[in-house]
Amino acid sequence: MNQKTLQQLAKKHGTPLFIVDHDELRKNYALFRKHFPRVQVYYAVKVNSDPAIVKTFYELGGSFDVASMQEFHTVHQNIAKLPAKKRQEFIWDKIIYANPIKPVETLEELDQYKPLVTYDNHEEVKKIAKHSPHAGLALRLRVPNTGSMVELSSKFGALPGEAVDLIAYAHEHGLTVEGLSFHVGSQCTNPENYIQAIHLCAGIFAEAKSRGFNLKLLDIGGGFPAAYDASVPKFSDLARKINHELNRLFPKEIEILAEPGRFLVASAGTAVSKIIGKAVRNDKLCYYVNDGVYHTYSGVIFDHCTYHMKSFKKGTTQLCAVFGPTCDALDTISLTEQLPDLELGEYLYSDNIGAYSAASSTHFNGFPPAKVVHINQ
Ligand SMILES: Cc1ncc(COP(=O)(O)O)c(C=O)c1O
Repeated sequence: MNQKTLQQLAKKHGTPLFIVDHDELRKNYALFRKHFPRVQVYYAVKVNSDPAIVKTFYELGGSFDVASMQEFHTVHQNIAKLPAKKRQEFIWDKIIYANPIKPVETLEELDQYKPLVTYDNHEEVKKIAKHSPHAGLALRLRVPNTGSMVELSSKFGALPGEAVDLIAYAHEHGLTVEGLSFHVGSQCTNPENYIQAIHLCAGIFAEAKSRGFNLKLLDIGGGFPAAYDASVPKFSDLARKINHELNRLFPKEIEILAEPGRFLVASAGTAVSKIIGKAVRNDKLCYYVNDGVYHTYSGVIFDHCTYHMKSFKKGTTQLCAVFGPTCDALDTISLTEQLPDLELGEYLYSDNIGAYSAASSTHFNGFPPAKVVHINQ
């Protein structure tokens, strides 16, 4: 997004402002499709559940990974007017409920939609069999998350050694396991995580087959890294390595799914805030802005992500701290930004902030989330 547009939008709409560029969403989606022609793309709605973003991916023919009933309904509103049969086909073909742990109430509500859901343990099988017996299953595996910015394997995933027993257990309970899923951790810059996970899955497919269970799909999850800086490996290289192993180990009739989130939306989001205070503390220039880690910059805490603050004004820079507006010292966006001398009322902005940002913004301390503006819709 060019600087002039950002400034105009900030003037027009006020700050804090969170701008979503739908051309960028479309570009990222097309890039993913180009490099993974065999893979069905399920946008991970949690990453930014704004209905307008979901609609854009829907219009592109996208599929969806949802992890709560609210997210399910955000997707479902796009298909609410379709004839019942078409709606049911869409849910089965294009929605996966990819939260391995589901409350009973959720399962009861989901059952009517007969979706594909993930699971990773015995208790969940019993719950699904009782409250959502029409669901299809994908077994979520624990796989290496080495070096990923956000680690997920400590919370979810069956051990590879127990996988086929868990598949058999689901069948004993009258359920069908369609395939396997995994997540290598978010912002995964280590291709080995995907390669090892794909190898583990190939082994489990073979073992399952030898015990009479024919798995039909492999869900390679999310983790595809956004190009936050030059250290992130090229997406085309990562895709080439993954595709090579998928094609080598999984025959064409096996459906391959992925649940990218960050990769699709990170670069489509830009935050613009205003300097509301300024002080020098311990010889360091400190800026206070009207957005912070309880708001659009929540990814600093939850996503372990660092965002750079940029100014529209040029000039000699110095090392500065940038804080959010709340009365909490945790509300620190960065202690190491290179910024020029700026006046109160001037803007700062961060790009590449579309993922895990507005999605986890709060109303803490009485400050509402940033206003959201969509461009190129
Ligand atoms: C099950 C599942 N799928 C997909 C995603 C999206 O991951 P990413 O944004 O790294 O692509 C997540 C993120 O937590 C997830 O939990």
